[in-house]
Amino acid sequence: MRILFLLLSVSLLASIPISSSSTSSYVLREGSSLSVENPEDVIVSPDGVFSAGFYPVGQNAYGFAIWFSKPSCSSNCAVVWMANRDFPVNGQRSKLLLQKDGNLVLTDADKSTAWSTDTVSLSKTELRLQNNGNLVLNSTESGVLWQSFDSPTDTLLPYQHITKDTRLVSSRSQTNFSSGSYNLFFDSDNLIRLFYNGPDVSSLYWPYPWLSDWQAGRFTYNSSRSARFDSWGMFTSSDNLTFASADYGVRLQRRLVLDADGNLRMYSRGLKSSTWVVTWQALSETCRAHGICGPNSMCSYDPIAGRKCSCIPGYKIKDASDWSYGCEPEFNLTCDNNTEVGFVQLTRSEFYGYDYGFYSNYTLEMCQEVCLQLCDCKGIQHKSSGNVPLCYPKTLLLNGERGPHFEGDIYVKVPKSVLYSLKEEVLGSSGLECSSGLVSSLSRGYTKGHDNGTLKFMVWFAVALGGFEILVILFVWCFFIGFNSDPGEDIQGYHIAATGFKRFTYSELKKATKNFSEEIGRGAGGIVYKGTLSDDRVAAIKQLYVADQSEGEFLAEVSTIGKLNHMNLIETWGYCAEGKHKLLVYEYMEHGSLAENLTSKALDWQKRFEIAVGTARGLAYLHEECLEWVLHCDVKPQNILLDAKYQPKVSDFGLSKLLHRGDLDTSNFSKIRGTRGYMAPEWVFNLPITSKVDVYSYGIVVLEMVTGKSPAMSVNVMQGGGEMEYGRLVSWVRDKKHEANGKASWIEEIIDPILRGRGEYDRAKMEILVTVALQCVEEDRNARPTMSKVVEMLLPHENDF
Ligand SMILES: *[C@@H]1O[C@H](CO)[C@@H](O)[C@H](O)[C@H]1NC(C)=O
Ligand SMILES: *[C@@H]1O[C@H](CO)[C@@H](O)[C@H](O)[C@H]1NC(C)=O
Ligand SMILES: *[C@@H]1O[C@H](CO)[C@@H](O)[C@H](O)[C@H]1NC(C)=O
Ligand SMILES: *[C@@H]1O[C@H](CO)[C@@H](O)[C@H](O)[C@H]1NC(C)=O
Ligand SMILES: *[C@@H]1O[C@H](CO)[C@@H](O)[C@H](O)[C@H]1NC(C)=O
Ligand SMILES: *[C@@H]1O[C@H](CO)[C@@H](O)[C@H](O)[C@H]1NC(C)=O
Ligand SMILES: *[C@@H]1O[C@H](CO)[C@@H](O)[C@H](O)[C@H]1NC(C)=O
Repeated sequence: MRILFLLLSVSLLASIPISSSSTSSYVLREGSSLSVENPEDVIVSPDGVFSAGFYPVGQNAYGFAIWFSKPSCSSNCAVVWMANRDFPVNGQRSKLLLQKDGNLVLTDADKSTAWSTDTVSLSKTELRLQNNGNLVLNSTESGVLWQSFDSPTDTLLPYQHITKDTRLVSSRSQTNFSSGSYNLFFDSDNLIRLFYNGPDVSSLYWPYPWLSDWQAGRFTYNSSRSARFDSWGMFTSSDNLTFASADYGVRLQRRLVLDADGNLRMYSRGLKSSTWVVTWQALSETCRAHGICGPNSMCSYDPIAGRKCSCIPGYKIKDASDWSYGCEPEFNLTCDNNTEVGFVQLTRSEFYGYDYGFYSNYTLEMCQEVCLQLCDCKGIQHKSSGNVPLCYPKTLLLNGERGPHFEGDIYVKVPKSVLYSLKEEVLGSSGLECSSGLVSSLSRGYTKGHDNGTLKFMVWFAVALGGFEILVILFVWCFFIGFNSDPGEDIQGYHIAATGFKRFTYSELKKATKNFSEEIGRGAGGIVYKGTLSDDRVAAIKQLYVADQSEGEFLAEVSTIGKLNHMNLIETWGYCAEGKHKLLVYEYMEHGSLAENLTSKALDWQKRFEIAVGTARGLAYLHEECLEWVLHCDVKPQNILLDAKYQPKVSDFGLSKLLHRGDLDTSNFSKIRGTRGYMAPEWVFNLPITSKVDVYSYGIVVLEMVTGKSPAMSVNVMQGGGEMEYGRLVSWVRDKKHEANGKASWIEEIIDPILRGRGEYDRAKMEILVTVALQCVEEDRNARPTMSKVVEMLLPHENDF
């Protein structure tokens, strides 16, 4: 009976989710310990923003970690530090103990040491978590003995220095916290760099290796080697690298993370918000991180299928669960008989680095001959630079990228037998897994000592009982939901965990909008009302016209929208799905849409430029981030909203149709979508729909912002044949530019009279903006840049060193 009671309490404890509780303490004193089994054993910073305690990293596996705990999180907390990321401890009987001798020790269930600070102190010691997120071991006599800020994992917090002695190391994946292959560190030449440290090879990839130090804006002669950012979002480094987050100037929660995909990103979050948004990133094209697809494979931005890795012809994937291992040959190459060897061509591709040499003015045949003579040569890169053909034999095929913007071709060396068997192989059938939400299990067993049958039995029994309990609780919850239209805190917590954000009831939203009385917008997807939520947040609540969609389908779409967090995308706070009522709850934007502001005097030249950049950033994030790949399909001034500081946020994305990589079928798009005047020619001519349709619409929006002329007024699109007058605004601007024949005055002629009257604008910047916009509205979609290219062109020195 006693044992049963014990087991019951153990399993009860095990089923309580992590939370910062009021019984948590602010200090761990000498001789006391924190136990993995007690979720309330957490050290909290005085202001409650950070907590330190045991954090689950796999099945029955825990790390001792620090995470953001305000607003409270139940799972998916933003972990900023972990003591034992590579040696997780058991979910039972593991402890963090502050010994009397001043050593802070993390012990596993079998009493082995998983981690320790190796500190010694004769005087009294204590462990505290400061408001800045720094966990400090302090002694009365000698002050700070150890602090977590001195041993970062993958995250830097405001005012935490990265120095010559520390580095950030990425996690293996979004769900696996153990050390990955990417490093941020100060190199011996005093520059802060990103470094790929793979199992077989390593290379520097940021600042881009083809840039000289000064081109990258760096300074090598300051050996102090130290960098940090402040709580307003300004990063400064001793090598003169400085950047400001896109929301610079506001005091928010911020963190700088070397993400598992090798990109360095700054995230920020408002106090009331539970979502983090990206406000800066080192690489605007994430294929540029080395090793992302492993050796012998290609990273590509296929505009239809999004970003993906694929093996080069004749090679097969090594480990289907992890692309970083790349691909291995399916053949054995003989070096002694060259008549047996041939080359497969990969157009518009590049492998970076590992050149055997460089041969100028070598024709393709000469270059192939060089490679044939070298047993180590795996293939060649051949391209021409101003009619002079260049030849690069490769000893390794790494950091492969494929895309329309590459000029040269790759020729991979394979046996002739393979060459003949390769049919018109379609490159790239496997998508790159982003592994978000994928929880792989890591079991921590009892390795030695106490490994006896009884204990095992007890643990399993407890686990089984815990599982049963959870089932009972879920059952009770469902029951509760069924009979109560006003679910309590716990039920909401459950739904937050399931979808990433809050589920509202219809009656709550009805109340918030005063029975849907204040309409603030109306679009293809539904009607938008202004409302005030019970916690006083002002929200825009959109009632969707999708009554016939099943709840499961709706939730699936909603959870994807919930994962898209970027400062230039409207933030989604929650949703409601009750029978035929489907609603989305967004943040409310003070200044309404760009459309409402175009004729106002509030939008000066500078604001318009910032709106163009911000909108491009938001769309680039939609198109190319490693989330689900989303086309907007209806970019227009009505869907670009402006916040209190006139920063743009793209809205209405992800609703028309979420495009999961790989399953895009153009027949999904048989129906023309979008808005007159902003629609790309592809819609009209029934061509494949790619992310370039958004680029086109974006170009039109920019031209409209600059000229103040609406395309919808001057364009007459007739569907289904007949006469088609397309893009009069575009041709008008093109003509003006052409007529000017190089003279700068054409800008004066096209500019919005509101701006012209006020005199002050930067003509050079304006010219760049219009030139980029004209590229975006090319009829040929291949001639249009990608959205991330647009960001790069508009901000040549801010975003892309
Ligand atoms: C360390 O302890 C001393 C004395 O108790 C105190 O004055 C000091 O502020 C503490 N430092 C930190 C970083 O907590
Ligand atoms: C070197 O960098 C540090 C930290 O940014 C700065 O304080 C110092 O003035 C710099 N020294 C020189 C000579 O520029
Ligand atoms: C580094 O930055 C400082 C301050 O912005 C500037 O004065 C200095 O000239 C820069 N050094 C180099 C070498 O660019
Ligand atoms: C390549 O050679 C190894 C050993 O010589 C052999 O085991 C393997 O089967 C060969 N592979 C192919 C594809 O011929
Ligand atoms: C190379 O292979 C070809 C075709 O199989 C054969 O005719 C030739 O004799 C071989 N040469 C050598 C040196 O083995
Ligand atoms: C390239 O080589 C060809 C012949 O091999 C020669 O006629 C030509 O002048 C060379 N061009 C350059 C730029 O060296
Ligand atoms: C994380 O990755 C490491 C290295 O690949 C692996 O050994 C470990 O089992 C993984 N952990 C989890 C929880 O999947």
